Order: sequence, then C-alpha cells, then structure tokens
Amino acid sequence: MNVLVRSGATVALLLAAGSPALAQDDARGAIEMVVDAGKPGSKIDRNIFGQFAEHLGTGIYGGVWVGRDSPIPNVRGIRKDVVAALRAIRVPNIRWPGGCFADEYHWRHGIGPAKDRRVNINSNWGGSTEPNSFGTDEFMDFVDQVGSEAYVSVNIGSGTVAEAADWVEYMTADPATTAGRERAANGHKAPYKVKYLGLGNESWGCGGAMTPEHYTDVMKPFSRFVRNYNPAQAGPEAMQRIAVGPNDDDTRYTEGVMKAWKGHDWSWNIEGLSLHHYTTGGWPPSYPSVGFDETGYAKLVKETLGMDAIIAKHSAIMDRYDPEKKVALAIDEWGLWLAPNPGTNPGFLQQQNSMRDAIVAALNLNIFARHADRVRMTNIAQMVNVLQSMILTDKEKMVLTPTYHIYKMYLPFQDATFVPVRFDAGTYAQGEIKLPRVDAVAVRDTAGKLWLAVTNLDPARPVRVSARFAGIEARSARGEVLTAPRVNSVNSFDAPDVVAPKPFSGKVEKGAVTLDLPSKAVAMVRIES
Ligand code: AHR
Repeated sequence: MNVLVRSGATVALLLAAGSPALAQDDARGAIEMVVDAGKPGSKIDRNIFGQFAEHLGTGIYGGVWVGRDSPIPNVRGIRKDVVAALRAIRVPNIRWPGGCFADEYHWRHGIGPAKDRRVNINSNWGGSTEPNSFGTDEFMDFVDQVGSEAYVSVNIGSGTVAEAADWVEYMTADPATTAGRERAANGHKAPYKVKYLGLGNESWGCGGAMTPEHYTDVMKPFSRFVRNYNPAQAGPEAMQRIAVGPNDDDTRYTEGVMKAWKGHDWSWNIEGLSLHHYTTGGWPPSYPSVGFDETGYAKLVKETLGMDAIIAKHSAIMDRYDPEKKVALAIDEWGLWLAPNPGTNPGFLQQQNSMRDAIVAALNLNIFARHADRVRMTNIAQMVNVLQSMILTDKEKMVLTPTYHIYKMYLPFQDATFVPVRFDAGTYAQGEIKLPRVDAVAVRDTAGKLWLAVTNLDPARPVRVSARFAGIEARSARGEVLTAPRVNSVNSFDAPDVVAPKPFSGKVEKGAVTLDLPSKAVAMVRIES
C-alpha cells in the first residue's frame, strides 16, 4: 500500500508494508485519514488568498469601476455589488495595475481632475482605450472599500527609478510635503498604506526581456530609492518589496535573484520573490472553459497538481541561499488560463468558470498550505472578468463563480496553523491519466478550531472518508460542500446558483468522523471535540 504523508512542505511516499493503520478502502469502502491534531505546522499566511486586478479587458473598467455617474450602484465610481462580494471573502491584498500593463504604466496619467487624465491605448491587452479614470486614488479607495491591502507594482520595464520613487512618495508622504500636498489636493490628506511593492513584472518576458543578472542590476536602485514615507509603516508594517522571480519551472531567475540577494548589503533588500505559473494545457491556451469532456477535466487537473513540484524546485534553490526563509515565495499570478470566450476580444482573456475551476482552486490552495513556510503570498489571476476570476459582470449584472465559493469556504485557512493529515489518496483514472482520488488538508484557525478540507477529484464516484484525530475525540463535523451536476457546470447570470455551497455534515462515532462526499466535490468541515 502506498501511503501519502502530507506534512508541511514534505510529501513523502512511504511504501508502507503493514505500517500505520491506514487503508484506502476499509470494510465500508472508505478512504481512511488520520489528522495529527496535536502536531501543528507552519502558519498559513492569509496573503495566499490575495487577488490580482490588472487593467485588462473588463477587469477594471466595467468590473470594478463604472464611474460616479453610472446607473449601476456605486460608491465614488466603484461597484457596490463587487465590493460587497469581495468583502465577504476578506481579500488580504490586491495586486495592481498589472501584469504586463504595469511595465508601461505611468502613474501621472491617472491622477487629478478628469481633464488631466490621459487617454491612451492599452497595447498589451486588446488595443483598448485606456481612459486612466481609474488611477492611484481610485485604486486606494477601492482597496479601502474592500478592506484589503495595496500591492502596487511599479514600472521597471519602461519607467525610471525617479518615476517610481515619486509615485510611492505621492502615496505615502506627509501632507506638509509637496507630494503629500498634491495627494491631499486630489482628495486624500492622510498618507496611504502601500504594504507590498512589486519591483517590475515578468522582467524575463513582457517586462523587458532581461537576463536575471541585468534585472537584478536594474532592480537594486528601485529597492533602494523607492521609499515609503508613511510613519505608520515602520516595523512590522514596513513595506515588503517583491522582486521578479521565475516563470513556471525555469530556475534562472530563482538562481540569479537569490544569489544576488545572498550578497546584498544594507543598501538594498527584497522581502519576496515572485513566481508565475498558469495551468494552460499548452500554449497558446486552447482548452475551452465550457462544454469540455472528462479528458479536458482530467488533463488540466493533472497539470495543476504540478504546482507542488514547481514550488518544491524553486524552494530548494531558495533554501540554499536563504535557509532562514526570510524571502517569501510570492506566487502572484496563477490559475487556469483557457481559450477566450467565443466572440470576445481575445486580448480581454474572458473565460467562464466551472466546477473544474473550483477543484483546481482547492487543490492549489492545499498545495500552498503545505508549502506555507515559504509560500506566504499568492494572487489568483484575476479578480473580476479575467481568466480564473472570482466574479463575472456584464453591465449591471454580477455572478459569483465556483472559484469564489472556494475562497469563501477556505476563509478559516487565513492565518491558520497547518495540521498534518495522513491518508492514502487512492486513484481516479481517466484513460491513461491517473490522479489522486482525494486530497485533504487540515488547519487550526486563529480561534484554535480544527477544520478539515477534503476534495473528491473523481467526477463520477462519490467517496466515503473516515477520519480519525490523533489526540482528540471528535464530537461533531459540520460545514459546507461545493459540488455540481457536472464538472463543466457553470454559474451564469440567468442561473447563478448551479454551483453553490450547501450545508454538509459528517457522522461521528467513537471520536471518528465519516464524510460521504459526492463526486467532484470540495468539503470544508469544522471538527468540534
Ligand atoms: O494575467 C495576464 C498576464 O499574464 C499578465 O499581465 C502577465 O504578467 C502574465 O503573463
């Protein structure tokens, strides 16, 4: 029997001849799990639930910003419905303005009265008109309305150190200074908080096609001179700088940037290294987001599980240069990148979101939780109307996606403590494609409550999970389950609740819990002892 021991960043395959009392199928056909409730692991940073909002398609214009005069209910131009939905998933940080867009963004085009906003072309994304009506002050208002933190990416590719330094000075300076006075004149006297600063984006590609060595030389003055003047951001609230890191499993930037970091002196520093990795099924993305078959499901789920090995590969390099794990791995772009919806501008990256997206989201969140010691931030791409989004809008209409529901169900994971779970995952096979049948992660939330998240990857077979808890006797197991008629089921404006969570509970007997999961399902239960 092969037993997967999933413990922190370690996923070890034990050939367990006659070892722990774990069996894939016990007498009742159940998958057995042992939750090591007394062996807490790393803290799961709430920032792994971060979002990404780029000036791309209708991600900002239409999705977030409708303008003050819009008939769509808004607060200072920002959609009320979208803000309310995002507040409910406690978005820890929002990355903005890009993406590739960031390395061509000039912040002065987007501040001040409407007459001063520059209208230009979004050359990265569909050649659309960029009115710059959503700029720095609107973004900060949006972050504030959502109750989140700002993650601002500065333009390294086509901007200057002085431009980026002036921008962060504008956002954070005391109102007695010229920069702070200008901000106050634009409506915000108090300095803004800029918690995270992205030092460029994909500098190996759209951000300037730089070698890692060239990038580190270019990046260092940004790290040094782009200063945060907000007095409230001293000490633990200090701005965290995130350098461009690797793409997928290419380790050149990991090596190059981390090597430079190891040799850094007082004059520059970084607190994070970015990783971008999308699940695409090949390039350019051609897998449809609707109407796909079971092979289209199994192939992409298999690919997405590769995130674990990619993180392990980069983490091993980071461990060599940074054994104390001072530099976080920030996976600030990830998710399903599929074929654009037929009839839409392909540069707008619009796709539907199905039960497959929900399972992909849950599996990735589980992987991030297992690597919580190094992975301390992630940003799914993207928040509204773009790629694997939380929310879809069309004019006044809004619908929550299956991915959104996963983020809501996983709220107890924010700042929770990882708890190891041992289980034999079993197998789900689709033709030649073999996948684990189940996945599971447990945590203790910030109030000390134990939660167990279980995913049934099998699109056709329900699964019974029998969980025992080392050190405690369970008295109840209650929560929610997300499932759907089919893996390609979606929520639409006309039928918004096809994929929506429902109450779910387990049976408790002698301190153990039995969970009967439907096929293609994600369950989250609170274990009371
Ligand atoms: O998320 C879409 C794009 O993907 C981003 O702009 C870019 O950084 C990445 O290549």
